[in-house]
Amino acid sequence: MADGRPHAIDLFRLQGRTALVTGGTRGLGLIMAEALAEAGAAVCVSSRSADAAQRAAADLAATTGARVVGVTGDVSTSAGVDQLLAQTAADFGPVDILVNNAGVNIRGHADALSEQDWDTVIDTNLKGPFLVARALGPQMCARGWGRVIMLSSMLASIALPGRAPYASSKAGVTALTRVLALEWAAAGVTVNAICPGPFGTEMNRPLMTDPEKYQAFLQKLPVGRWGDLHEIKGVVVFLASEASSFMTGASLVLDGGWTAQ
Ligand SMILES: NC(=O)c1ccc[n+]([C@@H]2O[C@H](COP(=O)([O-])OP(=O)(O)OC[C@H]3O[C@@H](n4cnc5c(N)ncnc54)[C@H](OP(=O)(O)O)[C@@H]3O)[C@@H](O)[C@H]2O)c1
Repeated sequence: MADGRPHAIDLFRLQGRTALVTGGTRGLGLIMAEALAEAGAAVCVSSRSADAAQRAAADLAATTGARVVGVTGDVSTSAGVDQLLAQTAADFGPVDILVNNAGVNIRGHADALSEQDWDTVIDTNLKGPFLVARALGPQMCARGWGRVIMLSSMLASIALPGRAPYASSKAGVTALTRVLALEWAAAGVTVNAICPGPFGTEMNRPLMTDPEKYQAFLQKLPVGRWGDLHEIKGVVVFLASEASSFMTGASLVLDGGWTAQ
């Protein structure tokens, strides 16, 4: 501390905070949950599967030493979100940091996609974050501090064929981020988005296991490689902590330079 100013590293500490990571049982959600726990937060992870949620919570608690709780609920429906939030309130308590991460991708050219495909992606990726934030944001505002972190995508701002519902949902998430940021800014609650490029998760298995598609992606990546999962850790802790206190309504791009071209 110099002249009353906080030490840079202290700005990132999350001791005493609580975080809910939707879809925190695998992929980017799990690694972000781990990052928040390592930075000092108590963490709640959710999934549609009670088994997956309990398993991820037990593993995270064992590896980080943090308090970790697993809860269940489908974010694409009001009933699922009600279930998720009731369980969170009962088993975990108030949420200071919400990471709206749960998401799906159904790929295919527009003329090959069904109405159900469209609804599944939009309801999970756009309506879900709205419903969860709509419930938890006002509680954060009432307590005078909060962080809402949305998982958008580089596909919110650039296009790829075969991604109509996914790219539309993520552009919507970026817009939702800005609107909620304005609504809650004066109450001490920030709302920001992370826009990842390609990371090697379950969602991207169809790309990683197809040598042609994998190579096509590599050629678009100035860094010459896909993202390593741990490379999202610093961004989520930054947005969850005091370190980002003057940032709201922003989208942080994490894409190996893809969208810089
Ligand atoms: N991986 C990338 O390269 C990339 C790039 C840009 C953006 N993103 C975004 O980052 C987020 C995480 O992606 P990921 O690659 O880590 O995906 P992933 O490995 O497929 O994990 C998705 C998580 O979301 C949960 N989930 C899916 N649908 C759900 C629903 N309806 N209700 C509740 N939970 C649900 C899954 O749990 P259950 O299946 O057990 O319910 C799982 O925990 C997504 O929003 C994605 O769009 C990813």
